[in-house]
Amino acid sequence: MLDFVKELGIKEVNSGACYGKWIENPSGGELVSYSPIDGEPIATIIQAGEDDYEQVMAAAEKAFVTWRMTPAPKRGEIVRQLGLELRKYTEQLGKLVTLEMGKIKPEGIGEVQEMIDICDFAVGLSRMMYGKAMHSERPQHRMYEQWHPLGIVGTISAFNFPVAVWSWNAAIATVCGDVNVWKPSSQTPLTAIAVQNICNRVMERNGLEGVFCLTIGKGREVGERLVNDPRVPLISATGSTPMGQRLAQKVGARLGNTILELGGNNAVLVTEGANLDNAVRAVLFGAVGTAGQRCTSTRRLILHKPVAEEVTRRLLDAYKQVRIGDPLADGTVMGPLVNRGGVDDMMNALVKIKEQGGEVLCGGDELKDMPSDCYVQPTIVKCGHDLPMVQEETFAPVLYIVEADTVDEMIQMNNAVPQGLSSAMFTDSVTYGESWLSHAGSDCGIANINIGTSGAEIGGAFGGEKETGGGREAGSDSWKAYMRRQTCTINWGDELPLAQGIKFGD
Ligand code: UN1
Repeated sequence: MLDFVKELGIKEVNSGACYGKWIENPSGGELVSYSPIDGEPIATIIQAGEDDYEQVMAAAEKAFVTWRMTPAPKRGEIVRQLGLELRKYTEQLGKLVTLEMGKIKPEGIGEVQEMIDICDFAVGLSRMMYGKAMHSERPQHRMYEQWHPLGIVGTISAFNFPVAVWSWNAAIATVCGDVNVWKPSSQTPLTAIAVQNICNRVMERNGLEGVFCLTIGKGREVGERLVNDPRVPLISATGSTPMGQRLAQKVGARLGNTILELGGNNAVLVTEGANLDNAVRAVLFGAVGTAGQRCTSTRRLILHKPVAEEVTRRLLDAYKQVRIGDPLADGTVMGPLVNRGGVDDMMNALVKIKEQGGEVLCGGDELKDMPSDCYVQPTIVKCGHDLPMVQEETFAPVLYIVEADTVDEMIQMNNAVPQGLSSAMFTDSVTYGESWLSHAGSDCGIANINIGTSGAEIGGAFGGEKETGGGREAGSDSWKAYMRRQTCTINWGDELPLAQGIKFGD
């Protein structure tokens, strides 16, 4: 086993259930984590079974009773320590992200940086969870609203951001006074174990247990249990739109709350007069970065006719320079897809794209003679926006280039897909830019100008509309979804006046 993996406390065989203490010999069966880099096993996890899940939930419930009464700035202090502990392991954890899911090392480390950033944000937030005071219509009455913790927050995370997205939820939920139960993707259990080890040290140092909990197990078992569990008032889930649709129905049936961050189908629009150097660089990062496996990845490039040829030519040149290979090695720009299934999905999508009349300008194949069967060529397809596959999120480096005569048409195309996560326009025109950001402009949760679709900062609320699910995580006032609002009216006078001036039996 590589040294940096050991330094994160990963063993050959690991428990997959923890509430501060690891549960020995859980009953959910073995899971082996393989690296997509070379197809070799990294380590084994013994997954959580029903009893283990119950044990974790009991610890979380118990922890909540004291955690909710811990002053918020003191809760912030725990998250501050978590941020410090993460700083010590940035390199190792970033590399484990790379090893386990295949994104290049700078992106793995960047993900840990997002965790540190959200911890810092949450520390400040722990002193700023303000409620409003209102003016009562009745004399000698005071009215205000306050925010209480919800309880146990269940976070279901995806393989592509195996640690950062958990932290957006956990850091915020924790300062809000909630406790966390995490079900990570079965593709990336080891990064979750490494993070749990970091959390455990912080909890132990502070005499805590049950604030950060982990249950690794099959979606059909642990995931289902969490989703259907009335003890979990909020489920925050990242994944595909079909996964979110199933989950929302189940949580909705018990009137629980959800934060959903589902599929994206993000477009970059480039208008006449835009800075094409920056546009091409942003599209390259957006479409090829993380091998096209971000929910914010650029999937559609909508080009204004006057610049279409030039941008396409420059982009094809840039794609030729993309160094594909070992994501742990310096200089690699694109690593493997997460697993063989990802490659098969991309190849099947390309068959359909070609059948529907899409023209493959570059790439379009998997790469043979690599250390595993998970490597593909980044691919550009030229097509009309009416190509049916353009409506779908293919979680791979496939970029559609379409052209349009007018900027209005480009904006309409941006909105003409079922998903609504991220979007970007490259332009130097105030008129184009403002129409892009107007009520009739982009319908996405994120709308940028002169930066790409991916790589959002944690300070903003992150999430999207339509089939993306409508949830918001991370910065701004996303914290409100992790708390319950209470409106309080206090009568400090001797009378009992009724609202709306109602006289009742007087
Ligand atoms: C995701 O792909 O699920 O904006 C999250 C970005 C990253 C997060 C992506 N900060 O691309």
